[in-house]
Amino acid sequence: MDNLGSLKRSHYSLELSAQALGSKVTVMGWVHRRRDLGGLIFIDLRDVKGLIQVVIHPEQEEIFRKAEKVRNEFVIAAKGTLSQRENINKNMPTGEIEIVADEFYILNDTPPLPIQIDGVAMADEDLRLTYRYLDLRRPRLQNIIVTRAKVTSLIRNFLDSEGFYEIETPMLMKSTPEGARDYLVPSRIHPGKFYALPQSPQIFKQLLMISGFDRYYQIARCFRDEDLRADRQPEFTQLDIELSFVQIEEIFDLLERLMHRIFRETLGVELPLPFPRLKYKDAMDRFGCDKPDLRFGLEITDLGEELANSEFQVFKGSLASGGVVRALCVPGAASFSRREQDELVDLAKHLGGKGVAFAKVAEGGFEAGISKFITAEEQSVIMRKMDAKPGDLLAFVADSYDIASKVLAGLRNELGAKLELYDPADFAFCWVTDFPMFLYDEETKSWEPAHHMFSMPKEEHIPWLDDPERIGDIEGQLYDMVCNGMELSSGSIRCHRYDIQKKIFDVLGFTEEELKPRFGFFLDALKYGAPPHGGIAPGLDRLIMLITQADSIRDVIAFPKTLRAADLMTEAPAEVDETQWKELHLKFIE
Ligand code: AMO
Ligand code: AMP
Repeated sequence: MDNLGSLKRSHYSLELSAQALGSKVTVMGWVHRRRDLGGLIFIDLRDVKGLIQVVIHPEQEEIFRKAEKVRNEFVIAAKGTLSQRENINKNMPTGEIEIVADEFYILNDTPPLPIQIDGVAMADEDLRLTYRYLDLRRPRLQNIIVTRAKVTSLIRNFLDSEGFYEIETPMLMKSTPEGARDYLVPSRIHPGKFYALPQSPQIFKQLLMISGFDRYYQIARCFRDEDLRADRQPEFTQLDIELSFVQIEEIFDLLERLMHRIFRETLGVELPLPFPRLKYKDAMDRFGCDKPDLRFGLEITDLGEELANSEFQVFKGSLASGGVVRALCVPGAASFSRREQDELVDLAKHLGGKGVAFAKVAEGGFEAGISKFITAEEQSVIMRKMDAKPGDLLAFVADSYDIASKVLAGLRNELGAKLELYDPADFAFCWVTDFPMFLYDEETKSWEPAHHMFSMPKEEHIPWLDDPERIGDIEGQLYDMVCNGMELSSGSIRCHRYDIQKKIFDVLGFTEEELKPRFGFFLDALKYGAPPHGGIAPGLDRLIMLITQADSIRDVIAFPKTLRAADLMTEAPAEVDETQWKELHLKFIE
């Protein structure tokens, strides 16, 4: 094994180009691949920027013998002359050049790795997560993590230039409710008491506004003990932003310019500004959900009026019980097989629906499916309303508004992907606004905040806080930033007035005794000159998923957790020894 000694790297692989032919360079990294051909040894040396080919000639006897010993993933250094390559490799950015080595060092060796770094044969994800530090050597993951670093640096530069202050808020704190379970940390010094890790810095950022910092941001770690999915981790990162004396439009403009900058500088994509705005109600009516994928149309049509007198039992029953009949006109899908239709019905059932009724559109009217239950007159008004053409397939869903929305949104996304109605490399951003403030929870028979409890209702709806009949009609100054069907970001104008915040807590059913210990300090703060303020918090992990087209949130976090919230590499969570239980005044109860 060789020592690094005074050996110094002169370049990273990708910094080398044909312009420097003939110069002496030194590179360092890992053996990505070794090939022995025609008496020569070729090594693809990998560093964080990419690959460069190193050639060792047999005349260089001493280093040739050394190079014969290297295997994949040995750590090496090579010094030599930058030369033109004989067989140009067009798939490699440095494919025209190579280093003809006259010095070669083995800095460390390795047994064969438990997972493969090179090539496509990918090990099982659990194994990859167990050896995450090796998995992170894969160029794809390395690229993602480097892109993430670039994005955070862009964010800092942008917000600094916009007059924001980066301020840290505590990790050990009292619960900030964002709707998930807290991660708790027991206190050694205060027996029986716990800190909560922040679900978000929400309360602290509002307190910073009350302190007068005016423009705050933080790249903040958040912790939520909730059911995990492909786009959720128990700890994740928000770009947390808050501004004082601000209106919604200013926040939209700021975020649009930030997204524009990020997409331009990472992907060379010019996002069209401003992003379209969509009211919550319209999003639900047209797309069935509050995070519509706007890369394609396939909008929902309500047919309640057209089918008001329908004799078809499924439709009649739904409309009679206050439900809806809504439909999608799927272009060119009349050719779907029975099995393809059944798959859509299964999806509908999986989403809580009862089924999907189909009709094919032909020249003169409907064919097959439920066509015989729909009168000729109904068929023609429906075709006109939906702009249906021969060869299209109509998919009807009859149910309550909420379930029909959920089912149709699911069908729409499925069909958009299946029929390739969009280019996967497109980005369609939008703002969804005018959310209701409160949602009624049928199970607990109580009102829950639609976003969170610190948002301001629309000014004209504030009086309705006193009217129990109108609580469900109150809209908040709430907004989400959505892209390609993913909720990237939520925010709101906050409630900066004590009297209104108090009423919001009343609606949510907090008693005085519950309020004081949980939010007493915050309600007090609102009394002492809180400025009007508002903010937003894009999920950084989801943003990086979008930019790098990653399917899983685990790919954009250096050391992620599994869907069961475990770190397979360090084996966290782990048991702790007896003394720690004692120090923390804890006992395990089975
Ligand atoms: P919210 O709870 O909507 O709002 O979160 C904001 C954004 O954070 C991301 N996000 C997540 N990302 C990965 N894993 C998770 N478990 C996870 N949960 C949320 C999403 C989401 O849009 N304090 C408010 C923001 C504000 O009003 O300023 C908040 O936390 O991208
Ligand atoms: P059934 O009467 O249950 O055999 O259903 C007749 C057809 O209507 C089948 O194709 C079902 O998938 C479909 N269907 C059943 N319930 C609904 C519903 N609520 N909305 C739309 N289609 C439905």
